Amino acid sequence: MANRSPLSPAVNPVEENTQGSIGKPLDRVDGPLKVTGRAKYSYEYRSIKDTAYGFIVGAAIAKGRISAIDTSRAEAASRVLAVLTYQNAPKQAPPHPREPGENRYDRSEPFLFSPDVRYQGEPVALVIAETFEAARHAAGLVTVGYVKDREAKFDLVANQSQAYKPKGVNAGMKTDTSEGDFDGAFAAAAVKVDVTYHLPHEHNMPMEPHAAQAVWEGDRLTLYSGQQIAAAAQSTIAKTLQIPVEHVRIVTPFIGGGFGSKVPTHAQAVLAALGAKAVKRPVKIAQTRPQMFANTNHRPECLQRMRLGANRDGTLTAIAHDVWTQTTPHDEFIEQTASFSRVLYAAPNRLHRHWGVILDLPSSDIMRAPGEEPGSVAQECGMDELAVALDMDPIELRIKNEPKDDPETHLPFSSRSLVECYREGARRFGWSKRPKRPGTLRDGRWLVGYGVASAMFPTFMRPSSAVVRLNADGTAIVKTDMTDIGTGSYTVLNQIAAESLGLPTDRVSVELGDTQFPKSAGSGGSFGAASAGSALLLACEQVRSQIAQLISKDRRSPLAGIEPGKILLQGGQAVAGKKSEPLPTALSRLAPSGIEGKGEHQGAEKEPKYSSHAFGAQFAELGVDIDTGEIRVRRMLGVFGSGRILNAKTARSQLVGGMIMGIGAGLTEESIVDLRDGSFVNHDLAEYHVPVHADVPQIDAICLEEKEPYANPLGIKGLGEVGIVGVAAALANAVYNATGIRVREFPITLDKVL
Ligand code: MOS
Repeated sequence: MANRSPLSPAVNPVEENTQGSIGKPLDRVDGPLKVTGRAKYSYEYRSIKDTAYGFIVGAAIAKGRISAIDTSRAEAASRVLAVLTYQNAPKQAPPHPREPGENRYDRSEPFLFSPDVRYQGEPVALVIAETFEAARHAAGLVTVGYVKDREAKFDLVANQSQAYKPKGVNAGMKTDTSEGDFDGAFAAAAVKVDVTYHLPHEHNMPMEPHAAQAVWEGDRLTLYSGQQIAAAAQSTIAKTLQIPVEHVRIVTPFIGGGFGSKVPTHAQAVLAALGAKAVKRPVKIAQTRPQMFANTNHRPECLQRMRLGANRDGTLTAIAHDVWTQTTPHDEFIEQTASFSRVLYAAPNRLHRHWGVILDLPSSDIMRAPGEEPGSVAQECGMDELAVALDMDPIELRIKNEPKDDPETHLPFSSRSLVECYREGARRFGWSKRPKRPGTLRDGRWLVGYGVASAMFPTFMRPSSAVVRLNADGTAIVKTDMTDIGTGSYTVLNQIAAESLGLPTDRVSVELGDTQFPKSAGSGGSFGAASAGSALLLACEQVRSQIAQLISKDRRSPLAGIEPGKILLQGGQAVAGKKSEPLPTALSRLAPSGIEGKGEHQGAEKEPKYSSHAFGAQFAELGVDIDTGEIRVRRMLGVFGSGRILNAKTARSQLVGGMIMGIGAGLTEESIVDLRDGSFVNHDLAEYHVPVHADVPQIDAICLEEKEPYANPLGIKGLGEVGIVGVAAALANAVYNATGIRVREFPITLDKVL
């Protein structure tokens, strides 16, 4: 270990951490429950008696008004209990349009509250029946007449000229920023790129469709609903139903993926609560896969104009990133797409701006790395185009423009290993074998190309709390309403508690996803592990300090009289220097009912002194068939600097998963709008192409060992999202390197290279 470079890989190959549990590639502690089918998801609480089934009827127009609605045939159908429409649904608060600075995930979200239709597939009725089949059948018997608004708009490109300045962009980031004189510097630049990229709508497609089961007991509601942020769902439901927040309990211990789409509280959750109230029985609702295309999240279509000006030696003098994003009349959501280019490269003259284009489509919302993922396409393909114009290696161009501090805020970076990621990645990937001229490397019928791009995701922190109880038998139990969306929260929180309390991981149990537990940030924005984990760390420190004080004062302990701050918990013992006492012995004497600690972390500092982001370098090699244009990814490597790694195995899975999702963004995923009626046409997994095994080649993710001293007490920067960022750009750049064809319209399907 002595001669280890400060940036030697920590994640892969896996290294044993002899200091404790954090960092070890511990298998998922919830794995056995999942593979044996014992982990219960929202739709699976079968022991709840008398549960009825709800089925959503979606609007058949995009914009207009219900003129007539006939539910009589549905109501008369066999085993139907009720049909809810705007005419008879329980009362709800009106919708709450987003204002800047407000939390979009904590607001009223009513359904069936008005005859107005805002988008194709918006719920217009809920049929409740004894069985799923009966409900679905009767849903087909509801007849709805509409008056269509003929002015409805669905086409981003056709409506770009109608763009408006939004009130704000996602994650509280600035809508527009500028520095210096972009226009002057760009006009004077020796080498320029001025290009526009067009990215499609995409949909989050977690394996578990959105489902909820609602149970009322008197005026209190328990809602089993896959939610990334339990407390946000609790508050949203309370606001919508206008009941006290403490009357709502959200239970969400297992979630089959989210990628952002289970951060909002969607129709099935609200309608299950309304339906259960109406029929005075538990009700459960699952959205079908096609319904999810209208009633969950999608990443909005956008146009991005990227202008880069540089000196002949490759020094950037001017950067402008202008973004036009789809949003809706009823709900403004704009991805922070131009925020990517604010952070990556130095240039004295810069401009980063967003516009909204209002279309009558379902609300867009967050999808893995909202903003940073699409933003990386324009900045990183733009850099590749500039490298070609300069006849320069694209990695050297990036390294040349490495900033001294955050180019937007001018705060120092808390840690930034982007250059090291490129150097290490280039070495491992064999970047030197990249063809210098496009279209010159052949392997049989394949034209082969290499591409790179940078990844970045900000380190967010959100207020969180957790409790931990250390029992006298040397076991510990952690509770927080933090969620595990498949990411490994159960496992990393176990490791944090185990290491902090000096226990083996099999003596620790973790309970998550219930609003009866202390409130946490939940999962989203890559802040989950950092926020909940920091709270847990503080809770464990409280336990340690309480034990240490008791022991220090107790004459029967071998550690009596030792300053409490010097007493540590290690290997199941309280330890100070050479002296020790087994914890069960000390606890059974001093605290037979155990010791509880509560930790609260305040989240981000109001006035941060450092700019904190995870960075990475994405490498891709692909082949393009010379006749058919078929594009096959051959190899991918991501090298990341993400601070301390909590679990080598789950970290790698997260990053590789993000990279696979990036293949989708680059090559396969696109939600196509029918421009006549505003519906998403390819609304199932047969036609919305997420990458499948055959699309995923040899793929590897590495985390450099990186010290992050400032972001949070754990020194981690989050890695749920950085893995997807830059992948689409690296693939596009590889397509160019293979063929000499620059595709600026995503995804890059074979028709675009023919
Ligand atoms: Mo992530 S899109 O914030 O769950």
